[in-house]
Amino acid sequence: MRHDESTNMKPVDPSYWDKLVADYEAQAQPFTSYFAEAALRTLQLDRSTRLLDIATGTGAVALAAARTGAQVMAIDFSAGMVQRVLSHGVPNIEARQMDGQALELPDASFDAVLSVFGVMLFPDWRAGLREMARVTRPGGSAVVAVWKDEDGAATNLLLSQLRKALYPDLAPPRPFPGMIELSDPQRLSAAMIDAGFAEPSIEEITHDSQLKLAALDDADRLFELIPAWNTLAPEQRVAVLGEMRSRAEQDRVGDVLPIPSTALIATARRR
Ligand SMILES: C[S@@+](CC[C@H](N)C(=O)[O-])C[C@H]1O[C@@H](n2cnc3c(N)ncnc32)[C@H](O)[C@@H]1O
Repeated sequence: MRHDESTNMKPVDPSYWDKLVADYEAQAQPFTSYFAEAALRTLQLDRSTRLLDIATGTGAVALAAARTGAQVMAIDFSAGMVQRVLSHGVPNIEARQMDGQALELPDASFDAVLSVFGVMLFPDWRAGLREMARVTRPGGSAVVAVWKDEDGAATNLLLSQLRKALYPDLAPPRPFPGMIELSDPQRLSAAMIDAGFAEPSIEEITHDSQLKLAALDDADRLFELIPAWNTLAPEQRVAVLGEMRSRAEQDRVGDVLPIPSTALIATARRR
């Protein structure tokens, strides 16, 4: 996850995400869509399904769900993300700006509620899960996708791994509490039960993120907002980049370095 040290903006600030809309849609959404579609495949959706996508971002879940005919509500605390989803003009998607920790939505008003790489980022991720349960009707379904590694996925994950290998004594940047807690399948199941769900079942899915090797020529620009990079000293960055290039020589496929990233997809029923 990216942090902007220069402005002190953090991912807990909606304006951080407002500025990322175009980059997120171009670079992250093609990757997260793979997991969003896997999350949706755990559900049976039709035109009568009322579905809520929490922390929709640029709409990976909402857009795919809408293709089934389901009635989709997409929420995000970033006005920019909400506007981007609305700009598609999909008639069966309603998008609203809202904090996932305090949903302005009635109890038991959805048949299916999903959060793909969203709730894990909330400072009060337990409240996020409780809110998911509150708005799901009894017997309805919830799906929560998180990363299996507390350092996340894609370039965030690779940089963290290389940094730990090269500088084991250097304190890593503090990851999100929800990413740490929910990255373990048993703790994820327990958290869903605590929130009000039953019978959690967890699927592990791995998919490659594709790092374009040409982009490494401007590594400071590419990784500028990634804490595992921007908290390194200049000579440490040179060393980490050297390791990454060696890794790329070994594992490249054409002009990209695949970075295998594993998600846990938890599905449960509302009690
Ligand atoms: C990693 S993106 C995931 C987006 C999308 N679900 C996907 O899989 O591509 C995280 C999203 O969570 C949103 N977000 C973070 N904290 C939030 C909160 N407290 N309430 C609602 N949305 C939040 C951000 O604005 C961002 O769009």
